[in-house]
Amino acid sequence: MNSTVKPKISGKYDFVVVSNRLPVDRVIEADGSASWARSPGGLVTALEPVMRQNDGAWIGWGGQPDLEFTPFESEGIHVVPVALSAADLKYYYEGFSNDTLWPLYHDVIAPPSFHREWWESYVEVNQRFADAAAAAASPGGVVWVQDYQLQLVPKLLREIRPDLTIGFFNHIPFPPYGIYSQLPWRTQIIEGLLGADVIGFQRVADASNFQRAVRRLKGYVTKGSQVEVPLVDMSPGVRVFGEIKRQGSFRTVVARAFPISIDASSFEELARTPAIQERAKQIREELGSPKTIMLGVDRLDYTKGIGHRLKAYGELLAEGKLSSEDVTLVQVANPSRERVQAYIELRDEIELTVGRINGDYGTIAHVPISYQHHGFPREEMVALYLAADVMLVTALRDGMNLVAKEYVACRFDDDGVLVLSEFAGASDELKRALLINPHDIDGMKEKIMEAIGMPKRDRAARMRSMRKRVLEHDVSRWSADFLKVLESRAHHGSQGHLL
Ligand code: F6P
Repeated sequence: MNSTVKPKISGKYDFVVVSNRLPVDRVIEADGSASWARSPGGLVTALEPVMRQNDGAWIGWGGQPDLEFTPFESEGIHVVPVALSAADLKYYYEGFSNDTLWPLYHDVIAPPSFHREWWESYVEVNQRFADAAAAAASPGGVVWVQDYQLQLVPKLLREIRPDLTIGFFNHIPFPPYGIYSQLPWRTQIIEGLLGADVIGFQRVADASNFQRAVRRLKGYVTKGSQVEVPLVDMSPGVRVFGEIKRQGSFRTVVARAFPISIDASSFEELARTPAIQERAKQIREELGSPKTIMLGVDRLDYTKGIGHRLKAYGELLAEGKLSSEDVTLVQVANPSRERVQAYIELRDEIELTVGRINGDYGTIAHVPISYQHHGFPREEMVALYLAADVMLVTALRDGMNLVAKEYVACRFDDDGVLVLSEFAGASDELKRALLINPHDIDGMKEKIMEAIGMPKRDRAARMRSMRKRVLEHDVSRWSADFLKVLESRAHHGSQGHLL
């Protein structure tokens, strides 16, 4: 992505998005030259089109330590970089965000680590983001904070700028109370989030988990999607609600599900491009024209169930139900969080398994797995989606999984079968996928075989119904729904009286 560095933006913005990562990452090449490239992950995919429609500012980190940049414009987006030091990266990003919160919020698939220095860094960096948002937003403006790295920002920002309307969206799951309550700083995080006027979650279950944590830790009343936050502060565990209720007033915070989506029509548009369709055919030929191409596309993360997927596929090859002449699995594994120990171990584990499967079941002409440890430009991804007869999304836990939606959006030919984990948020909407429990290896094997052998009519009926959902509930509808609720808080106020 090209960008031109412009002088510091002096104006203030009516609409500000705050996320850990900017839509662009600073990339330093081996020869020392530097450029900006699109940053990884679903969050950027979802928010980029929203920002293009709204003339706002995007506050975030540029992906490299100690990067001091004045705000600039990047493809029509006003970008306000926040600098993180090497220590911030270690403690706030790799530590508290990705080695404490990430595993905790994903059902403790990997054990979370709890370190007080990491928490201190998280508080400090959240304050920095809150200060940057406070400086960028216009009087009475709207600030939309994103994701688990910045859960304290709503409260910190409200303390500096009570005039703002503040939204928060959690892109990852919110865990059940039994798991969440392990967090030593569980109350501070709930208080941080309750600084927002509207808190969005991916699934209804995530919103219910959050509300339960609010009731258990703060004793506040929740009614439907609303949380009543007393303006008189109450310490947790002090049972004086009756008294305060008679005297006090409260803010109402909305906490509910807003399932995120993608810019579906732009994916379909690309898929309809003749050059991309040609490329899809070429990919099949390059793979040796197998009868079936299966595809997995994931950040290389232990939540994605890549190991479970490979186990099921390896067993099908071992049992002779599949052969490398007939089937190829293309596995795109985007490098991610490469300095965090659990990710280092995962990469070793996955690459060992891929090597074993290819070594055991491959021939000179055909390898069972085409393994790609790098990202691809969007055009190539769309060609891969078009080439894939079966798409495998086998996450052990996933907030939404936008890859599932991208696959569906691209299949304007009403073909292709989606095998989808019931533990991915997308399964609430894409009910005509072949739903699986990825822990049940035999069940997954059966569904893979069913997907490969599914008659064309069934494939088309399922895909049509999923396409309707994804095209109607696209990312602009997601952001419009969220911002409508957020703006209604701004116009009608979120304060009420407890009687
Ligand atoms: O969607 C979850 C998320 O953590 C986003 O917040 C983030 O942008 C993306 O995944 C990629 O993760 P990271 O920024 O740690 O590379």
